[in-house]
Amino acid sequence: MSLGFIGTGTMAGAMVEGLGGGDILVSPRGAALAADLAVRFAGVQVAESNQSVVDGSETVILSIRPQIAEDVVRALRFRPGQKVISLIAATGIDSLREWVGLDLPITRAIPLPFVAARRGVTPIFPPNPEVAALFDRLGTAVLCHTPEEFDLLAVGSALMGSYFGLLETVQGWLSAQGLSETASRTYLAGLFASLGVAAENSPDNFATLRDEYSTKGGLNEQMFRVFAEKGGTAALTTALAEVLARVRG
Ligand SMILES: NC(=O)c1ccc[n+]([C@@H]2O[C@H](COP(=O)([O-])OP(=O)(O)OC[C@H]3O[C@@H](n4cnc5c(N)ncnc54)[C@H](OP(=O)(O)O)[C@@H]3O)[C@@H](O)[C@H]2O)c1
Repeated sequence: MSLGFIGTGTMAGAMVEGLGGGDILVSPRGAALAADLAVRFAGVQVAESNQSVVDGSETVILSIRPQIAEDVVRALRFRPGQKVISLIAATGIDSLREWVGLDLPITRAIPLPFVAARRGVTPIFPPNPEVAALFDRLGTAVLCHTPEEFDLLAVGSALMGSYFGLLETVQGWLSAQGLSETASRTYLAGLFASLGVAAENSPDNFATLRDEYSTKGGLNEQMFRVFAEKGGTAALTTALAEVLARVRG
């Protein structure tokens, strides 16, 4: 299928990179990236306008920020037979359908920058098979059967900053105790990468893994116990609930 991106920013760039080119039109806004993608990937062209993207593609991928989405999408004229994939955060299918103005199949997706390396896990709703195939090319599509499931994975997707924030906090503390930033960075990045692989490859649930990786009475057990006792897990739970409220709009 020919793809057209409305909004050529981080996500559009990552998807084009992961796809390695193809029959792809990108919109002119985000000019420098659009031009770069057209140079680097065969079959990628920069359209003259947002409307030219819609006119020239079968599947239109909305990759603009939520704040401008309504104005941008309402201004476009779609045609019957087209499909729409929306990456726009916190914007439900009912609103999107009203802005599109036609009863086209609309699928929401939450790709992350890892699609560039075909390592993205991408929630989609509804579980449209063609869209699932697209994101399976870019890693793994995670099929959601209700909007509620999709919103919950959107909350999960908002943990990236906290992941790095955790590493940042630990690195700051280690530095204050005298460890070089290079040593802590090498160690922490490697440790967390290995933990990610261990989680991905293990059939065990996370509670079991925590147990397996925490010797009874050992340092790992103490670390999580103090973290939980001092409100770490409660703070995380509150943050999850507050982000879910925002995701639901
Ligand atoms: N980045 C992520 O990890 C991530 C993850 C999940 C979901 N999302 C969602 O994906 C969407 C895109 O995110 P992003 O990170 O790719 O954003 P981004 O990097 O800010 O890209 C948005 C692009 O839209 C362009 N744009 C602005 N006004 C436009 C208009 N009127 N018509 C066409 N294009 C216009 C911008 O161009 P200029 O630079 O010229 O202004 C920019 O290139 C957002 O809704 C976001 O919530 C992002």
